[in-house]
Amino acid sequence: MKIISTKNYDDMSRKAANILSAQIILKHDCILGLATGSTVEGIYKQLIMQNRNGDVDFSGVHSVNLDEYVGLSGEHNQSYRYFMETNLFSQINVHRGNTHVPDGTAADAEAECIRYESLIKELGGIDLQLLGLGHNGHIGFNEPDDKFPLLTHRVQLKESTIKANSRFFEKEDQVPREAITMGIKTIMQAKRILLCVSGTAKAEILKQVLSGPVTPAVPGSILQLHPNLTVVADEDALCHL
Ligand code: F6R
Repeated sequence: MKIISTKNYDDMSRKAANILSAQIILKHDCILGLATGSTVEGIYKQLIMQNRNGDVDFSGVHSVNLDEYVGLSGEHNQSYRYFMETNLFSQINVHRGNTHVPDGTAADAEAECIRYESLIKELGGIDLQLLGLGHNGHIGFNEPDDKFPLLTHRVQLKESTIKANSRFFEKEDQVPREAITMGIKTIMQAKRILLCVSGTAKAEILKQVLSGPVTPAVPGSILQLHPNLTVVADEDALCHL
């Protein structure tokens, strides 16, 4: 595990974006695993600038997102497809057909999970998976549990996650209760993982993830076992380590 400490959120965003661009420069047709949320917004802003400056070319890149809410279509402004379109895809030269997010409106969610898992395999696996960290230690939407869910699956969101995500919805009862998420095995099979964390509110959980016992009660703790994990976190997030 390599831990890169940054001064603040902006510094984290620049350093993480540079790692993603380096991956694309080294392998122009790489498969990126992408995430949504506040942590990655700054990283995507940096990637957009680098793409405009001609420093990084997304024309060969394929992407697979970690997760999507069940019941929200890509046009819904709180869906993760919509987030990706507005915060990244519409502003870089990626081929839209090469970008993949689970379909939250699939009539058969279980079949969608199987399709998504096979898609990742057919693409040849994820070269670099970008991750944020939930306040309860979740990665993707793999919530604290008594076992690690392995493959892409349908999941009931925890109350704490619904509360955390309600800031994006008008009312808490509008937050979807279920999601489709890559599983822990799907994530762990990525060749490289880049975990990004910012802020004191995540300092305690980051400490548990990086130095506590490996347990499904703290899903991110499994990352300690990944052979190629890079953590880019600001000083606030690293203050308990
Ligand atoms: C999003 C995802 C989540 C977030 C996590 C942190 O696709 O999979 O695991 O990375 O909830 O979210 P933020 O960055 O908003 O604190």
